[in-house]
Amino acid sequence: MIKKIKIAPSILSADFARLADEIRVVENAGADVLHIDVMDGHFVPNITIGAPVVKAIRAQTRLLLDVHLMITDPELYIDDFIKAGADWISVHCEATNHLHRLLQQVESGGVKVGVAVNPATIIGLLDEVLHKLDYILIMSVNPGFGGQIFIPESLDKIIRLRQKLDSAHINRALIEVDGGVNQDNALSIIEAGADILVAGSAVFGGGDPDGAIKGIRQAVIG
Ligand code: DX5
Ligand code: ZN
Repeated sequence: MIKKIKIAPSILSADFARLADEIRVVENAGADVLHIDVMDGHFVPNITIGAPVVKAIRAQTRLLLDVHLMITDPELYIDDFIKAGADWISVHCEATNHLHRLLQQVESGGVKVGVAVNPATIIGLLDEVLHKLDYILIMSVNPGFGGQIFIPESLDKIIRLRQKLDSAHINRALIEVDGGVNQDNALSIIEAGADILVAGSAVFGGGDPDGAIKGIRQAVIG
């Protein structure tokens, strides 16, 4: 495979009491990006972590920090996450009436800007802003929890997004896929057109994050 695939372990399934150690293992295993799931108990029915934890992680790793905001009123918190050291920030298009303004806010902070879309959200909603994006995060489970099963219809959505980007000659935006990704389905997700694979339980859930990352990498290399 010619294109470089990025693997982004999601710390949601890591042992939070040993977070620095868990991050060190995936960094040494060749992870490209560290995916951090921020949930507020409103946009999704779960609460995870906020900017102070992102700041603490920033001090522990050189990995790029990919902050996935699953929160309502994201415009109130984006600057905090930028100050905390986020490198990439994705906002859900379902979480705002003013996506364009939100993207400007992220972009003006000097970080990579992404939009996340829930499984039931049509990708056509992004048509007017695709050229502004560094990445599009396709949710392949309903956001809120790790360890869910990959929704099979997501593959067709990834294929359609890839076609849309290619036919519009938009080369900048990468496609990130998040939810239920594992060693068994990684290749089909990449073949559908994804560039970045987020994996939480597949990496941290089996007791061998190093082996799991290498397994996913091997599966997509063939
Ligand atoms: C779910 C999160 C995901 C989650 C993925 O709402 O956005 O990043 O950590 O976990 P797995 O890989 O276990 O589906
Ligand atoms: Zn996520």
